[in-house]
Amino acid sequence: MLKAKPYLRSIHLKDGYDCESYPFSIPAVANLDNLTFHEDVTFFVGENGSGKSTVLEAIALVMGFSAQGGTKNLDLSDAGGLSGLHEYIKPKKSYEHPKDGYFLRAESFYNVATAMDYYGYLQGYGGRSLHNQSHGESFMATLLHKFKGKGLYLLDEPEAALSPARQLAALVRINDLVEDGSQFIIATHSPILLAYPRAKILIFDSDGLYEVKYEQTEHFAITRDFLNNYQKRLERLFSDELE
Ligand SMILES: Nc1ncnc2c1ncn2[C@@H]1O[C@H](COP(=O)(O)OP(=O)(O)OP(=O)(O)O)[C@@H](O)[C@H]1O
Ligand SMILES: [Mg+2]
Repeated sequence: MLKAKPYLRSIHLKDGYDCESYPFSIPAVANLDNLTFHEDVTFFVGENGSGKSTVLEAIALVMGFSAQGGTKNLDLSDAGGLSGLHEYIKPKKSYEHPKDGYFLRAESFYNVATAMDYYGYLQGYGGRSLHNQSHGESFMATLLHKFKGKGLYLLDEPEAALSPARQLAALVRINDLVEDGSQFIIATHSPILLAYPRAKILIFDSDGLYEVKYEQTEHFAITRDFLNNYQKRLERLFSDELE
């Protein structure tokens, strides 16, 4: 029997794009056709500038969110600089619609918080203005109170605001929501979040876009090596710098 999840099963590229120009000049974007998502969590990883936010934003737009983020009901004007990628993306969706949804992006969360104050939508964020909470507190309030379950959640670097302990708490919340019928797509650099087991990890790099295991990621390897040998690694780093 066909399952309700994933709500967003895959994305496909329409014909007619110019692979020489932005955003298709980004190798991972050129490789987007037929990208399938995990029913629980799909992670986007890769170097800065490899195209993760560009793709997540395009997915958000075709799924009915505004480019700056928030729920589907929030219609903030885009802040300019849209890549146009969404015009070339065809989503393949489940027969069942998600009951809830949110696009959380670190870079424009401030604007969403301002809009929430303006409209007085504070109940869903724990009853307090997001501007009166710290960056990390407001992110956690969103995860804990605003995300209601059975939803499609798109998160761009949620760890940007979170301490390591809060990242562990975020993992617990993500797992609860997954068990309650939610699907996540998360762009991240966090070796803690990436450890989530019910997930598919997609690397964006100069070869394009492909799936890897957690232990194959640089995030895992570099962090583990550094923490196990940080004194030696620092000596090496600084002496290389002096040479
Ligand atoms: N309007 C534009 N024209 C040309 N290139 C652009 C434009 N906007 C963004 N880019 C480039 O597209 C690339 C992908 O950017 P994107 O923000 O998707 O990267 P990212 O993988 O999310 O990086 P990070 O990990 O730093 O968040 C970057 O090299 C960026 O400079
Ligand atoms: Mg980004």
